[in-house]
Amino acid sequence: MSVRRLVPGDETALLAIRARALQEAPGAFSSGPGDDRFETPGFAAALLADPESAVFGAFSGRIVGLVGIHPPGKGKTAHAVDMWGLFVEPAHRGAGVGRSLVMAAVEYARSQPGVSYVRLAVTDAAPEAAALYRSLGFVDCGYESDALRVDGLEIGETSMRLTLGLDRASDG
Ligand SMILES: CC(C)(COP(=O)(O)OP(=O)(O)OC[C@H]1O[C@@H](n2cnc3c(N)ncnc32)[C@H](O)[C@@H]1OP(=O)(O)O)[C@@H](O)C(=O)NCCC(=O)NCCS
Repeated sequence: MSVRRLVPGDETALLAIRARALQEAPGAFSSGPGDDRFETPGFAAALLADPESAVFGAFSGRIVGLVGIHPPGKGKTAHAVDMWGLFVEPAHRGAGVGRSLVMAAVEYARSQPGVSYVRLAVTDAAPEAAALYRSLGFVDCGYESDALRVDGLEIGETSMRLTLGLDRASDG
């Protein structure tokens, strides 16, 4: 298994793993099939061509995992970046793929001048992801009940934040 940053030309792999993520883990993502921005023609190509965005894929022959980092905000919010879209195919879970993806994303964020925090949101339907984030030093910042409704089920969402420089991902 290897993790690398996706580049222009990886659109097919990106769209395949994103579609799989929304299908496999509907409670973990606010988008779903039919309303996901990745379904807009040209979105994936534009994302991979944006030098301020970073998307990482895990590969085992083909793509089996994904995570992304949005560009930093402007002006008063330029000190934080948001992580999105973490997913590992079920057959490849429990083998460190998710941890490798998040660590690659954190390393990227740390390399960005002026960026002090990585933020994300994780739903109550994704306890494995929350455990992974906490093990890397992310801390809870807030909780919103009923943030998503999936098939009539109310799902809460926790905001988390990693302070770069204090995270365990940088210990080694
Ligand atoms: C969350 C997810 C990416 C983890 O991927 P993974 O490759 O299985 O994770 P890893 O093998 O790298 O495990 C890393 C850590 O995650 C946590 N974890 C993973 N699976 C877990 C499980 N079944 N129960 C509890 N914790 C778990 C543990 O802290 C683990 O560390 P450890 O092995 O030292 O105990 C995967 O379960 C997934 O794709 N889930 C569905 C999508 C999702 O929830 N996305 C999050 C969006 S915010």
